[in-house]
Amino acid sequence: MDLTVQMADRPLCGTVEVPGDKSLAHRAALFAALAEGVSEVSNYPDSGVTRAMRGALASLGVPSTLEGGVLRLSGNGLRPFPVSGAVAYCGNSATTIRLLAGALAATGSTAVLDGSAGLRKRPMDRIIVPLRAMGADVEGTPGIAADGRAVLCAPLSFRPAPLKGIDYALPVASAQVLSCLHIAALGATGESHFTVPGPVRDHTVRMLRAMCTPTPQTPQTSQTSQTSQTSPPPLSPLTGRLPGDISSAAFLLAAAAIVPGSRITVKNLGVNPTRTGVLDALEKMGAKISLSAAREEMGEPVADVTLEAGTLKGIAIEGDLVVRAIDEIPVLAAVAAFAEGETVVRDARELRYKETDRIAAVVAQLRALGADVSEQPDGFIVRGGTLAGGTARANGDHRLAMSMAICGLRAPVTVEGAEILDESFPSFVPALKTLCNAESRASLDRTFS
Ligand code: S3P
Repeated sequence: MDLTVQMADRPLCGTVEVPGDKSLAHRAALFAALAEGVSEVSNYPDSGVTRAMRGALASLGVPSTLEGGVLRLSGNGLRPFPVSGAVAYCGNSATTIRLLAGALAATGSTAVLDGSAGLRKRPMDRIIVPLRAMGADVEGTPGIAADGRAVLCAPLSFRPAPLKGIDYALPVASAQVLSCLHIAALGATGESHFTVPGPVRDHTVRMLRAMCTPTPQTPQTSQTSQTSQTSPPPLSPLTGRLPGDISSAAFLLAAAAIVPGSRITVKNLGVNPTRTGVLDALEKMGAKISLSAAREEMGEPVADVTLEAGTLKGIAIEGDLVVRAIDEIPVLAAVAAFAEGETVVRDARELRYKETDRIAAVVAQLRALGADVSEQPDGFIVRGGTLAGGTARANGDHRLAMSMAICGLRAPVTVEGAEILDESFPSFVPALKTLCNAESRASLDRTFS
């Protein structure tokens, strides 16, 4: 499907909500499956990647229902999954496969985890090596990573084996790897200590803390986070409402940031500090951002976030900011194309191992729209002010599709393969239309097709 976005003829304004957070949704379904009792979680998003987790759990013998945005799931506890020898298909979702891997190891289950052709290219050594160090019996499949390295990939085969705690320093700042190991540690004897080279999202520890007593400890500094955990008592079921997904809201906030005069509010948004790098970056670039109605839901900070467009300038996106905005670098690159001066993204080599090699893909697609961009080994440089519009390709990457689409509000853009955005944010186009606030249906239809 092609998505054509034509120039906004007025500032974006209004208030919207976005679907529940995907990272939290993955964890909620998986941890509910490991809990004793029935969990009920509302504002649960229905998209390709969340269906991947629920589908994989169902094939392992733990089905769930999703009605009116409420996920209901009866947990199996910390025991082997009911269906032994299942092949659980994880679609395109790396969070699903990496977190489920920890759960299969923790519960001593026999199963195979597999996924799409794209998922089969994602590196799995990063979980296989530490899981084996804990004693897990896991086999990967030889493959080639995006940068040409020989790595172990999916399918991953698990057989029961006793686990012991480990001290492990993660070589990459990855929340998926850290979460996989935390989950595995639930089934290990003894304590585990993990050190991470950056402030990765901490949803796993927050949610597990809410589900068990005594709580796992989480000393955390800005440069490294260390976590330790003893085997907990049974996990109690989850109830609550998921905060809105800041990774989805980012596309709407970025759209408002690039259209002069815009002012929008996204209500009930998750603002966990490990995820708000995108707000910091947009503010540094010149947008005005304010938070109101701050509160907590399911152990996560939530607020209404208002963005007012301002004069945009290029910035450096590096270090911890990259980790805290890891999924939002493509959309920040799109904003940079409308800023004055250079935006330099560095320390972001991890982007090469996402749904696509996001460094190469962002550079190629922004260039296809006429932007002045150069590729670096660990990032890229965008020189603002030259994007003229044209046709970009989504390359099977939902975030790339939406990042290129919002450029259309300043210079007409068609995104080929835009249906992939259903993987993460199926209501992206209606939400953007609402904010574009066209007075008549006709002008709405002119803006999007
Ligand atoms: C996620 C962690 C990040 C992020 C992904 C979701 C998570 O991946 O890019 O979209 O929910 O833990 P890495 O752990 O590979 O950085």
